[in-house]
Amino acid sequence: MMRGKICGTGSYVPEHYLDNHDIAGIVETSDEWIRERTGIVRRHIADNDTTVSMAIKAGQAALENGQVEAQELDMILVSTITPNTIIPCTACEVQKAIGAVRATCFDLSAACSGFVFAYNTAQAYIAAGICKTVLVIGSETLSTIVDWQDRGSCILFGDGAGAAVLRAEEGECYPWVTHSDGAKGEVLSCESRNQRNWQEKEQDRKTYTYMDGQAVFKFAVKRVPEVVRELLKKTELSVDDIDWFVLHQANQRIIESIARRMKTDISKFPMNIAEYGNTSSASIPILLDELNRKGLLGPGQKIVLAGYGAGLSWGAALLEWA
Ligand code: UT7
Repeated sequence: MMRGKICGTGSYVPEHYLDNHDIAGIVETSDEWIRERTGIVRRHIADNDTTVSMAIKAGQAALENGQVEAQELDMILVSTITPNTIIPCTACEVQKAIGAVRATCFDLSAACSGFVFAYNTAQAYIAAGICKTVLVIGSETLSTIVDWQDRGSCILFGDGAGAAVLRAEEGECYPWVTHSDGAKGEVLSCESRNQRNWQEKEQDRKTYTYMDGQAVFKFAVKRVPEVVRELLKKTELSVDDIDWFVLHQANQRIIESIARRMKTDISKFPMNIAEYGNTSSASIPILLDELNRKGLLGPGQKIVLAGYGAGLSWGAALLEWA
C-alpha cells in the first residue's frame, strides 16, 4: 500500500497589501469593526502578480524545500477559482515554467475546500500506484472577483498561493472525508468572470462574488467539527491526539467557535488570517508552509487539514509530518 508524504512546502503572496484603514477609504467600515468581526488586519492584493505567477513561485519554493526536481513530478494539481485563462489550465502553465515535462497537469475547482480536495485527489492517485511525486498548489487572485462596493464581503478576501510536494512511501493511506451540498450553492456565488485588475470598475454584476455571510458562518461552524469527528472515527485517534488543526482561514471567529465546539484548546488552531485575510484554496498551504518554515512541525506530529466554502463543500484530511 502506498501513501503520499508531504516532503516540501512553499508559498508566495504579493508585496502590495491593503490594511483595514485602506479598505475604510473604499467602503463604509472601520479598522475596529473588521478586526472585531473577522480578526483581519490586512490582506495582500495582486498588482503585477497573477494566479499563474503566484502558483509558479509557491510551487518552486515547495520543490526547493523538499529537494525535489521538477522532472521528477508525475502530476501537478492546481486548485483555483480564479484562473488567468479558461484554457490552458493553471497547472499546465506551471508545468511550462518549471519544466516538469513528465507531469500530468490539471486544475480543480472547489473554492475554499479546494486545497483539501486536491490534496486528497493526489493521495488517491498515489494510493492507486499511478503517481509517485505530486505537486499540489492552491493559488487565488480573489481581488479580481470581489465586489469592492460590498462591505459585507470585500473586507475578507486576499490574494496568494501555497503549495506542497507529496512523495510516495510504503504505508497505509491516511484517512480523509469530503462532502458537497450543491443545493445550498446560492449562498456564495459568482456567475461569470472577466479578467480585470481589482481597481477596474466592471459594470456586469455577474462578475462579482455574492455572499450571504451569516449563512456561510453558520454552515462552517456546524460542518467542520462534524467532518473532523467523522475523520477521526476512521482512526483510533481522538482530538487530543492531534497536534495541529490547520483550518481554512476564513474568519477568526469561525475558527474560535469551531475550537469551542470541539472542546479543544485554541492554541492547536494556528492562524495567520490577520496578515492575509481569506485566500480561499491558498490559505491552508500558506499556513502549513509558515508552520513548516518556523520549525513548528515535528516528525510524527499529527495534523488535520480542514476546508469549507462555496459549493457548498467541506472536507478534512489527516496527515503525519515527516
Ligand atoms: O471561505 C468562506 C467564505 N466566507 C466566509 O467565511 C464568510 C463567513 N461570514 C463572516 O465571516 C461574517 O458573516 C461577516 C464577517 C461577513 C459579517 O459579520 P457578521 O457578524 O455576520 O455581520 P452581519 O452580516 O450580521 O452584519 C452586522 C451589521 C449589519 O448592520 P445592521 O444591519 O446590524 O445595522 C451590517 O450592515 O454589521 C454591518 N456590516 C458592517 N459594518 C461595518 C456588515 N459589514 C460591515 C463592515 N463594516 N465591513
